[in-house]
Amino acid sequence: MNLKGRHFLTLKDFTPEEIAYLLELSAELKAKKKQGIPVDTLRGKNVALIFEKTSTRTRCSFEVAAHDLGMGTTYLDPKSSQIGKKESIEDTARVLGSMFEGIEYRGFGQEIVEELAKYAGVPVWNGLTNEYHPTQMLADMLTIQEVFGKLKGIKLVYMGDARYNMGNSYMIACAKMGMDFVACAPAKYFPDQELVAQCMEYAKESGATITLTENVEEGTKDADVICTDVWVSMGEPDEVWEERIHDLTPYRVKKEVMKNAGEQAIFLHCLPSFHDLNTGIGKEMGERFGLTEMEVTDEVFRSEQSKVFQEAENRMHTIKAVMAATLGA
Ligand code: CP
Ligand code: NVA
Repeated sequence: MNLKGRHFLTLKDFTPEEIAYLLELSAELKAKKKQGIPVDTLRGKNVALIFEKTSTRTRCSFEVAAHDLGMGTTYLDPKSSQIGKKESIEDTARVLGSMFEGIEYRGFGQEIVEELAKYAGVPVWNGLTNEYHPTQMLADMLTIQEVFGKLKGIKLVYMGDARYNMGNSYMIACAKMGMDFVACAPAKYFPDQELVAQCMEYAKESGATITLTENVEEGTKDADVICTDVWVSMGEPDEVWEERIHDLTPYRVKKEVMKNAGEQAIFLHCLPSFHDLNTGIGKEMGERFGLTEMEVTDEVFRSEQSKVFQEAENRMHTIKAVMAATLGA
């Protein structure tokens, strides 16, 4: 398998075999890291990390993974670069592409990361856009594989706003890998029809199924993986909170949901999560709307079934695999 020189913008661009290869490489790099075996085969290279939205996991994963591989990193935060304000994406891509061997981009529309990729001349990696979060998918798939020993035939249910980066990306990943994907949400939060149709095509090849349902009991029955995400994503206006809380509260992941899924079920969340009031926004919204938790109860979040911290650690190992594979040794 040779992915050298490839961009990593959405899993739509990758075959099931390529995704499986990246997961295999992730597991290998994780095992080596645990054993203290260094893999610094990219010594002397440098990567640029552009963040137009904030981050904890993605930024740290790219930095630690790059350093482990022997590379240098330059972090451009939402305020300290000229991108989009004083300099076009095309010019930025040409400049950074001449200095760095790879570029990570986190920000707004998918078209921005695509434009960056078009002009950079070096691999560009999507660290989250409004539409997709592909590096997160590798971490989630690795976690599922670690727990269940397989992906094919696993039933994964996404509860919440299924039209945004996480919902879209789960549907694509499941469709590619032969899994049973369920979006469990009010109909207006179902993924875009065109994307559903595209994923149905992947599903025909892989044996996956795609279900969109408003019914929590039916949707989550016998699920292996229950996942959710924040109800309001980065970059969305504060005004949407009230409607989201109203619409999505019935889709909160709580004890009854996990029980309906069964003892084997695990809980995943890309994080950060509003499972208590120990965050600025959580506290503010909690007080405004009389809530103590949002998309997941604190009880489920802290339960044995919750694998969210294993999932978070896997961000680093999988991002390392993406850089190693696309930059080559
Ligand atoms: N899951 C995730 O992307 O986390 P960060 O926003 O902290 O990078
Ligand atoms: N949907 C969330 C994911 C955060 C990792 C957001 O875009 O803010």
